[in-house]
Amino acid sequence: MARVEPITVDVQPARDADLARLPDEFFTDRFRRQRNGAGVLFVAWLRDEPVGDVYLWLEEAEEPPLRRNLPGVPLLTHLEVFPGYRNLGIGTRIIGVAERYLNDLGHQRAALAVRDDNHRAERLYRRLGYVDWGHGLLVCLADVACPGGRRGVAPETCHVLVREFDQNRPRLERTFSSSTRSG
Ligand SMILES: CC(C)(COP(=O)(O)OP(=O)(O)OC[C@H]1O[C@@H](n2cnc3c(N)ncnc32)[C@H](O)[C@@H]1OP(=O)(O)O)[C@@H](O)C(=O)NCCC(=O)NCCS
Repeated sequence: MARVEPITVDVQPARDADLARLPDEFFTDRFRRQRNGAGVLFVAWLRDEPVGDVYLWLEEAEEPPLRRNLPGVPLLTHLEVFPGYRNLGIGTRIIGVAERYLNDLGHQRAALAVRDDNHRAERLYRRLGYVDWGHGLLVCLADVACPGGRRGVAPETCHVLVREFDQNRPRLERTFSSSTRSG
């Protein structure tokens, strides 16, 4: 398939004014966690349209094997690019911004869990430098949509992948000081 120029999206931590533009209560919950300092909800904007997100889980992991084997390692969770905007480099960009944010905070690596049948996403992560954590499959508590638009959690069997950051990558002074998006 011919490659097209990646489209430029602005990836920023969510703000109060963004909430009304985000699709469901998942975002309300993660925004509340962000306010409490438990994580960061990044949203990708194409002009004024939200087109994707990732939530950086900075609390202790919910799953005991993660707590045991990756203590203190931030998790990239709920990465998604909304249908209609996939395959344009937006997911890669969201991951890059999240990693840079973590690097700026002083973290040396990040981890994520990908469902064991989500081969396309796993291929993307591996291409970006994520490798298996070496402790087998993990049953994760995934956020899922339920009938009626509500959210719930369901167990999912996942591969856990970890990426060590390049220690020579320069830290930025204030990565998110210059949002170009209005509002
Ligand atoms: C997984 C997901 C987040 C990836 O986001 P994305 O924006 O589609 O990802 P990218 O475009 O950055 O890269 C994905 C593919 O597009 C290709 N690509 C990237 N930039 C491109 C460009 N400018 N032109 C053409 N192709 C491009 C990549 O090489 C990759 O190809 P591959 O599928 O052959 O490996 C998205 O597909 C998604 O939301 N899926 C549903 C939810 C999900 O599975 N989330 C992961 C949970 S762990």
